[in-house]
Amino acid sequence: MSPANDQETTTKQADLVIVANRLPVDRVVHDDGSVDWRKSPGGLVTAIEPVMRENDGAWIGWSGSADSELEPFVDDGLSLVPIPLSAEEIEEFYEGFSNGTLWPLYHDVVAKPSFHREWWESYVKVNRRFAEKAAEIAAEEATVWVHDYQMQLVPAMLRDLRPDLRIGFFLHIPFPPAELFQQLPWRRQLLEGLLGADVVGFQRPGAAQNFVRLVRQRVGHKTHRDQIYLPDGRVVQAGSFPISIDTQGLEDLARSESVAQRAKEIREQLGNPAKLLLGVDRLDYTKGIFDRLRAYGELIEDGEVTVDDTVFVQVATPSRERVDQYIKLRDDIDRLVGRLNGDLGEIGRPPIHYMHTSYPKEEMAALYRAADVMVVTPLRDGMNLVAKEYVACRYDDAGALVLSEFAGAADELRQAYMVNPYDIDGMKNTILTAMRAGPKEQARRMRAMRKTVAEHDVADWAQRFLRVLADTKPTHHKHLRPAQDD
Ligand code: F6P
Repeated sequence: MSPANDQETTTKQADLVIVANRLPVDRVVHDDGSVDWRKSPGGLVTAIEPVMRENDGAWIGWSGSADSELEPFVDDGLSLVPIPLSAEEIEEFYEGFSNGTLWPLYHDVVAKPSFHREWWESYVKVNRRFAEKAAEIAAEEATVWVHDYQMQLVPAMLRDLRPDLRIGFFLHIPFPPAELFQQLPWRRQLLEGLLGADVVGFQRPGAAQNFVRLVRQRVGHKTHRDQIYLPDGRVVQAGSFPISIDTQGLEDLARSESVAQRAKEIREQLGNPAKLLLGVDRLDYTKGIFDRLRAYGELIEDGEVTVDDTVFVQVATPSRERVDQYIKLRDDIDRLVGRLNGDLGEIGRPPIHYMHTSYPKEEMAALYRAADVMVVTPLRDGMNLVAKEYVACRYDDAGALVLSEFAGAADELRQAYMVNPYDIDGMKNTILTAMRAGPKEQARRMRAMRKTVAEHDVADWAQRFLRVLADTKPTHHKHLRPAQDD
């Protein structure tokens, strides 16, 4: 039970606890043995950091390196509680079950998921470690907010240890339809893990519906709309809470003199092209990078675009580099870029500038400002914050966004140039339309999208989720039949 009065506890009890696979900072050990903390990649950190600061919360997560037994510490005003992972757990829990099983399964099976019993056992063990730490540091009746697919068993494990807590869960990636989810040998355990939460949040309404339907079919609980009634009297609320960005903060950065200067410099370094196209992604097979670059190569081959006046910059942030499917993807992209640049480029004019690296946010803001067309074409994506970041930076109402209809962002950024990323010809035509749009048409679309991201920023997202969590009624008084077996 609550360790609130336990003298052994070194960390102060927190009223808001964030549980996520990663801490908001990665531990980097240099060759000379010195240690640095670097902001971790991905949208989650950007999204949660402001909420943490406001609520004086604690964040439980992994440091990003193997076997580091670290004491809780405060970094840049944030209270951080590291959870160690052994090298074997990184392989089985993180690279294995999280990113070799769940990630492809939840993204429409665009790569084949692998099912291994040892990976599952490791997932259970690591989830238990996170749940136990949350139970230890949460104050009496505190709120615990659990994040993402790596942590789906934590809500139920935590509820067993600490029934007094209010527990929320948010899935940052898509939640698949029943037809795909049921491939998973441990489907029932995962659903029951999530049902430990009071609120289970998703990016899109369809994902919440998939979840409720699966709970009804596979676990046998009674449901009504987005509510699930459990036999023990609890009510679980499912819902959609589309995540966003720190819109104003990013716009302010984009407006700064140094970013304006850097944007100009980038265009100069690229030979002042008439049109600059930009792609920014983690190097992940769900992002549709390969087909996007292929489509662009064909536009040059067709004579619709020339390397003299158009440049494509593709930033691909290194990610999950030891997972087989990512190793293969990197090879495929390296080969494609090499072939396109070799076949279609001229001296000093490669059609594609491919940057396999991550940049600080100032450089990203400068790239967004410099780009005439932002090309975001994932095959499936929970949200895609890059699309929103581009819009936030275009305070000049210029620029065009090409956006996959399979990204969560497509629900909100309706004035983007929408594409089906599987349709190469359609993608080529839409990229051309976006490139050729006049300033009036661009401004009409951009203004509408800017209004959306201004009104729905990350603070709004977090407040909405936490408000729904605070408002949930813990019990129902319905007469229920017992749950059926799977
Ligand atoms: O968007 C999904 C996600 O797993 C985030 O939780 C994370 O910030 C990002 O992708 C990067 O992934 P990883 O933690 O595996 O490097």
